[in-house]
Parts: sequence; C-alpha cells; structure tokens
Amino acid sequence: MKRTDIATALASASALPSISVAGWVRTRRDQKGFSFLELNDGSCLANIQVVVDEGIEGFGLLPEMTTGAAVVIRGSLVPSPGKGQAWEIKASRLELAGPADAATYPLQKKRHSDEFLRAIAHLRPRTNKYGALFRIRSEATFAVHEFFRERGFTHVHAPILTGSDCEGAGEMFRVTTLDLRQPLSKDAAEEDFFGKEAFLTVSGQLSAEAFALALGKVYTFGPTFRAENSNTARHAAEFWMVEPEFAFADIHDDMDLAEEFLKQLITRLRERCAADLALFATWVDKGLTAAFDAIVDKPFVRLPYGEAMDILAASGKSFEHPVGWGRDLQTEHERYLAEKHFQGPVIVYDYPREIKAFYMRQNDDGRSVAAMDVLVPRIGEIIGGSQREERLDRLEQRIEELGLDPSCYQWYLELRRFGSAPHAGFGMGFERFLMLLTGVTNIRDVIPFPRTPRHLEF
Ligand code: 4AD
Ligand code: MG
Repeated sequence: MKRTDIATALASASALPSISVAGWVRTRRDQKGFSFLELNDGSCLANIQVVVDEGIEGFGLLPEMTTGAAVVIRGSLVPSPGKGQAWEIKASRLELAGPADAATYPLQKKRHSDEFLRAIAHLRPRTNKYGALFRIRSEATFAVHEFFRERGFTHVHAPILTGSDCEGAGEMFRVTTLDLRQPLSKDAAEEDFFGKEAFLTVSGQLSAEAFALALGKVYTFGPTFRAENSNTARHAAEFWMVEPEFAFADIHDDMDLAEEFLKQLITRLRERCAADLALFATWVDKGLTAAFDAIVDKPFVRLPYGEAMDILAASGKSFEHPVGWGRDLQTEHERYLAEKHFQGPVIVYDYPREIKAFYMRQNDDGRSVAAMDVLVPRIGEIIGGSQREERLDRLEQRIEELGLDPSCYQWYLELRRFGSAPHAGFGMGFERFLMLLTGVTNIRDVIPFPRTPRHLEF
C-alpha cells in the first residue's frame, strides 16, 4: 500500500477508509485499552495522532514503539475529537521498522540546547526546530531559482575545483593527491594531480562573468569554501552562495537587483513556510515579523561609504575597531548602521579601492570602486557585490599593483579583450539569508553539517 505524507493526510478534505503513514514516534501515551502515538514524518511540523486499540494486528510491537522508533501504520483517517487537529488515524495494523532504545536515544521529549544538538547533528533534523529549518532551507533554494528564472537568468554550474583565487584574499583550501605525511619537494605541485596547485573555489564569480558575457544574465548557486580562521557565528568554512552576474549593467542595476531579490524571497517564503516560520517567531526571535516588514515595506537606504563613515564617527559610540576612510566596515559597524541608525537594510557603496577585490570597477575619483554591500539588522553583511572592471588596461594594472599572478587570469583578461561590456553581480551567503529568515544567530545551526575550524565531524 502506498504511504501518504502526514502533511497530505492532515490536509485531507475528507475521511479515508484506508491509509498508510510512516514516520518516527515523538511520544506514546498508554491508556486503559488503547494508546496514542504522536507520529512525525518530516513532511510538516505537525504530528499526526494515531489511536491504537488493544488487540489490533501487530499490537505486541507497541512496547517497542518508544520515542524515536521508526514505524509504519495502516488504518483509517477519521475526524479527531481532540482539539488542535482535524484528523487522526485509527490504526488497524502496526509495523516496527526500527526501534530506538529508550535508555540511550538522545532526543527525549524536552527542549535541548543548540550546542547539544550540534553535537548530534545527524539526529537534530528530527526535532521540530531543525525539521522546520531544513524545510525552510529547501523552500528558500527553490525561491532563489524561481526568482532568477522569472527574470530570464540562466543557471550556470561553476566549477568547485579551481586554479585561481577569485577574491585574491588567499583564504583557499588546497586540494592535493600528494601524501602530506611525506616530505614534499620544492616543485611538488608539478607532480600533483593537476600539475599545478589546486584549490576549492571561494566564489563562482569569475566563471559567472564569462557566461554573463555570452548568455547575458546568469547566476550560480553552489558551495564555496573559505579557510578563514575566524571562529565567528557568521563564518563557515563551507557555505553556499548565490551569485547573479549580468551584462550591460552598472552598480545601480546591481543594487536594484539585490533589493528586489531580498524582498521577493522574504515575501514568498513568508507565504509558503508560514507554519515553520511561526515556530521561529515564537521560540527563537519574537522580532521576526517586524524585521520582515522592515525589509519588504520600504526602499533600502543607499549610502556612499564615505557618508557611512561620517555617521559612525558622529555616533558617539566607542567601537572596538576604529572608523575612518580606508578602514573596512566590521560587523559592529554594519550592525550599528542597519540595526540602530536606519533600523532596516542599508546598501553601502563606493568603497575605497584598497579594501576591495581586484576585479571591482574603479571610479573616476581615483580612490573608490563601484562596490556595494547590503547590510541587514542582526546579521550585518548579507550580500557583497560590484560592477566589474571591464577595461582591460585598468584591470591589468590592478592585478599588477596587488602582486597577483597574471598568468592565472589570462582567460579572465581575455574577456576584456574580446567584446568586453559593462557588467555587474553580487554574492549572497545563503546561510546568512537563512539566519535573517529564522532569527537563528549561529551559522552552524542553519546548515546540515557545519564545517568550521577544527570541526569536521559527520
Ligand atoms: O563579499 P564576498 O566575499 O563576495 C564574493 O565572494 C563575491 N565574489 C561575490 C560576487 O560578487 N559574486 O562574499 C559574498 C557573501 C557575503 O556577503 C556573505 O553573505 C557570504 O558571502 N560569506 C560567507 N558566509 C558564510 N561564511 C563565510 N565564511 C562567508 N564569507 C562570505
Ligand atoms: Mg564581502
């Protein structure tokens, strides 16, 4: 018999004489002559209640149907006399797929701390909170593709293995087939798999640029890797990034796209994940609704970097990191601007060239580049992007100034030699977006199996 998802069963328009559901027991309550099982199969936040009368087929298995056990239930879908649910299942047959020893199963019917659940990341999706989170993550993935598809952007799969450092920031993981336990010769790289040094990508941008200068409007959405040794609640060594790139576009088009993107994602996900998001608004962050309104209802503030520095300097706050032209915005500054000063999203643009990547378009003032970062309350930077330098001579000069190896960027420079066009793009950290959406404050709790310095379990 085909099994029905619990989400489908609970939404049924009518009673059903026969139904089969399967899932994991959340709780069991035994009464005289019958028992209640609360069953969850991950299809939705809600459990379905199963009424088990003494003596039905498989009744002898009931004692083993403790919290965490995997079970298959046949029966009928009937109106529930209990409050809170329209339907329940009157079981006619019980089947035990896999028991879960009550004495050692770590997830008991109580609230567990995020730290504890992180240590059992293989089981945490079975809790209400993490089940909801990963359903939301999946819906958000779909909403990202939908946004770009509706606007005629082509999805491009950027490579994961790369020989170039997109950000020029030197935070790359090395990939090798050499045995690191043996002493390495000076030209070991030549003996390695690719005959040269290889890395995991930090961004799909450079590949996306090549495709934008052919297909016009493209985006990548894939895993990216950074060996930043910063053990913060906002940085992961492996995270997913959404990177649109489009031709015949400038920094203002880029800001427009980023704003439209965030607004549409929040609006659609609010509708589609209402029950799961309500859990976060109740238990994790009571300010979520107001935070969503602040993103959706009004235009984002757009602020040149110089003015942002003036606001910070005039704030009277004593920041840990100093402010002033040429200094990078730290999370404390970003949060002050978005959370305190403007109380909503802020796009800071035209950053000093020294603190930004080599590929950003140089402005006529000789000291800034057409870069933009979207800052949101509680997170700080959620999106980073720029108009790209499309002028061959300027780009070559910048690569040289920064001491980067031009041979790595030959193909990238060639895009400026043949049919170069103004173009722009941005990258949104998908986990940062999920933090914004759920109010979860640690990036480790919005990705299935987090990778951070000294943590590679699971
Ligand atoms: O600002 P970033 O470094 O920009 C780029 O990589 C560009 N190539 C993107 C582009 O223009 N196509 O990173 C983009 C975003 C950040 O705004 C942040 O949301 C996220 O990626 N991010 C991280 N998220 C989690 N962990 C990390 N270690 C992250 N580093 C960046
Ligand atoms: Mg950035």
